[in-house]
Amino acid sequence: MVATVLITGATGLVGKKLTQHLLDKGYRVHILTTQKALSSTETNIQYFYWNPQNNKIDISCFKGVEVVINLAGSPIAQRWTKSAKASILNSRVQALNVLASAIKENKFPIQHLISASAIGIYPDSKTNYYQEEDVVSENCSFLRTVVQKWEAAAQQFEALNIKITILRIGIVLDNNGGALPKIMTPIQNYFGAVLASGEQWQSWIHSDDLVAMFVYILESKKEGVYNAVAPNPVRQSELTKTIGHVIKKPIFLPNVPEFMLKLMLGGMSAVVLESQRVSSKKIQSIGFKFEYHELSAALNDLLKK
Ligand SMILES: NC(=O)c1ccc[n+]([C@@H]2O[C@H](COP(=O)([O-])OP(=O)(O)OC[C@H]3O[C@@H](n4cnc5c(N)ncnc54)[C@H](OP(=O)(O)O)[C@@H]3O)[C@@H](O)[C@H]2O)c1
Repeated sequence: MVATVLITGATGLVGKKLTQHLLDKGYRVHILTTQKALSSTETNIQYFYWNPQNNKIDISCFKGVEVVINLAGSPIAQRWTKSAKASILNSRVQALNVLASAIKENKFPIQHLISASAIGIYPDSKTNYYQEEDVVSENCSFLRTVVQKWEAAAQQFEALNIKITILRIGIVLDNNGGALPKIMTPIQNYFGAVLASGEQWQSWIHSDDLVAMFVYILESKKEGVYNAVAPNPVRQSELTKTIGHVIKKPIFLPNVPEFMLKLMLGGMSAVVLESQRVSSKKIQSIGFKFEYHELSAALNDLLKK
């Protein structure tokens, strides 16, 4: 069993929960953070500073580490200005480049890289049901280009003889951050409405299942690319209405038109307008068991806490 795991982006939505889960299981966690002066009183957790943009990394973070979990990346859910777009791409690619260079130069005995990716790698489609091999590289949107370059940067670890696992994450549902509170707030205040046609597929995952999946990959040492989505994606209209149903708020306003979303959110509207129906079969075929298969069960768990 691995004793010490190095995590980048561990202070974020997924990373915080994953770190706690690993600590509860008896792992030691080293955290690479861009925030200076983070410290912990917890004996099994240690913070190390890095700044991938400036090629800075405290290489003592690798001491005793065999597995690196990479979650770092500047938020997608921000207005896509020119500089935000550069940061969304560079933070992801550069983080992996800096890790790879440090491991290579110092010959650290890292065995396994488990890196986050996103289902945004699949083209927008209301009819396709995406498996891991269905990646198309022509006519790429900004988001698709980012995810392709992100995955390509992860693949460089192969040349270092390091196992690589890539988890293409769907919309992470959690009550402490990410998409769910953003979707839920207007519904709670009786302003809830289906977005655009509502027919776009949203492939979601409960944060507990995502954390369990990272740990499953870590402990089973499985390599490859896996979709990290629940077995039953839903259409946007179903997502909105199910949230309304669970928190007992009616959805009576008309759909928010697509042009309005584009006006309000700019390029980032792609995040809510694009449709990706993504399959979880591959991760299930290697033995991973979901706790939350259906959206209503996931929301009942999250929203009634
Ligand atoms: N949440 C979702 O629905 C979802 C869906 C698909 C994919 N993902 C991907 O999964 C990963 C984890 O998701 P999350 O929701 O936990 O993300 P998050 O809450 O935004 O956290 C990401 C972390 O990345 C680090 N970071 C931010 N800007 C950075 C920069 N410029 N350079 C290096 N590191 C930076 C931060 O950690 P420090 O401040 O400690 O450095 C931050 O806490 C992300 O890469 C995300 O894109 C998430």
